[in-house]
Amino acid sequence: MSEPVGAHVSERWAHWRARVDLSEYHSRWARMEAAGQTAHGEADLIEALWSRAGGDGAVLDAGCGMGRVAIELARRGIPVEGADLDDDLLAFARNDAPHITWHLADLATMQLATRYSMVAMPGNVMIFCSPDVRADVVERAAAHLHPGGLLVAGFSLDGITLDEYDRYCAAASLTLADRFATWEREPYDGGNYSVSVHRLVT
Ligand SMILES: C[S@@+](CC[C@H](N)C(=O)[O-])C[C@H]1O[C@@H](n2cnc3c(N)ncnc32)[C@H](O)[C@@H]1O
Repeated sequence: MSEPVGAHVSERWAHWRARVDLSEYHSRWARMEAAGQTAHGEADLIEALWSRAGGDGAVLDAGCGMGRVAIELARRGIPVEGADLDDDLLAFARNDAPHITWHLADLATMQLATRYSMVAMPGNVMIFCSPDVRADVVERAAAHLHPGGLLVAGFSLDGITLDEYDRYCAAASLTLADRFATWEREPYDGGNYSVSVHRLVT
């Protein structure tokens, strides 16, 4: 018996893949974008942090999926690359934005040639990756940062706690720089969604 689609990423990702028709999902986003209904909170925060850090160096959209956020960052003139382990989603990204470099890579083991000023993980990547590789995902993200670079991750606290995430960060020499409740930078108030910004200490 062949394994379910997406199971090579994680069990949770396989559940998502089993429920979602990718073409329909992609065209729904495209329709919203065309109608000006797409919110860009993630790209807004990533751009603000990137600009505040001097506006140089590239961003890695880690767990980029169909490239939703990376494509918006590139549209704003920010150098960006994407990486994901699900080639079916990357196919949409490649088709929509052939000018961007898209890596088929496991975030838990990746060894890309570039070092980035920011690794961004919007879209619940931390809870869609397999729980047993979360520490490795954070360690690999840190390994791809320039000294002083930022790891920015937004995820629901569903099967992972912030203490756990902060421990993975500390083990990878990443210290907490900011924590918000939303990508719109509302203060974190103990709720079940959080956006964390960690800096690589040198
Ligand atoms: C909900 S999607 C979010 C996609 C994109 N970040 C967005 O916000 O539109 C979660 C993504 O994480 C990716 N992912 C999870 N674990 C991964 C891993 N170990 N390596 C690479 N990608 C991973 C999945 O393949 C999926 O594309």
